[in-house]
Amino acid sequence: MAKRIEVSGLNAYYGKTRAIEDISMTIEPRSVTAFIGPSGCGKSTFLRTLNRMHEVIPGARVEGKVLLDELDLYGSSVDPVAVRRVIGMVFQRPNPFPTMSIYENVVAGLKLNGVRRKAQLDEIVEKSLRGANLWNEVKDRLGRPGAGLSGGQQQRLCIARAIAVEPQVLLMDEPCSALDPISTLAIEDLIANLKDQYTIVIVTHNMQQAARVSDRTAFFNLAGPGKPGRMVEIDDTNKIFTKPSEKATEDYITGRFG
Ligand SMILES: Nc1ncnc2c1ncn2[C@@H]1O[C@H](COP(=O)(O)OP(=O)(O)OP(=O)(O)O)[C@@H](O)[C@H]1O
Ligand SMILES: [Mg+2]
Repeated sequence: MAKRIEVSGLNAYYGKTRAIEDISMTIEPRSVTAFIGPSGCGKSTFLRTLNRMHEVIPGARVEGKVLLDELDLYGSSVDPVAVRRVIGMVFQRPNPFPTMSIYENVVAGLKLNGVRRKAQLDEIVEKSLRGANLWNEVKDRLGRPGAGLSGGQQQRLCIARAIAVEPQVLLMDEPCSALDPISTLAIEDLIANLKDQYTIVIVTHNMQQAARVSDRTAFFNLAGPGKPGRMVEIDDTNKIFTKPSEKATEDYITGRFG
């Protein structure tokens, strides 16, 4: 199930502005890769290029190559909707479908994929909500609107929705930024369990979290004010946090800037 992502020479633009510059990296299957770096350096932008979500923004475009195993995701015959189905995403701001119930939010993707059997849907709803550490809080009100949950609960609902379809790759953009420490630990446990099956990428501003959950860490930075973001280095997480190759990485992880 899990797949390797290989990015080469990737640039992403908003209109004429280049937001990220010449990024190349390999993301291994059955592993967790963390993206760290100061605000505005393009982590979310880069993440969205990995499942063709960047181009939904008017005027936004991508140059370069992203391979999912052998498949060229930007190839002319590739359907972006199909890409988003196998490369799931949890956004920085929780975005449950506002008019749908909690239950309907979790099964939305499954229904699109043609799963209809109630017993099967019920089972996946429970498993996904348990995985996202939300089950106990919502099991008695699955029919109520997803939008009626607190911010942190909505984020966990979005995580449940993303894992319900069992994507091959899961992209998570600061999934814990609105969560309390207990839910944060539950999500980190979930990530540790999921990596047996999936390829996972997580953006985080929390250095301890990156160190706890990831196998590989990529550090991003701006080359200067008004310049595009770029990847400074990617390496084993241990190495990034103990003996990074670049001084900018060391300055960032030791809190000297950013
Ligand atoms: N929809 C958009 N339209 C135009 N510019 C955008 C848009 N989204 C992001 N940008 C710009 O692209 C650059 C990178 O932003 P991005 O959100 O990818 O950074 P980030 O590293 O995720 O930051 P943060 O840590 O604050 O989430 C920034 O200069 C930002 O202003
Ligand atoms: Mg971001």
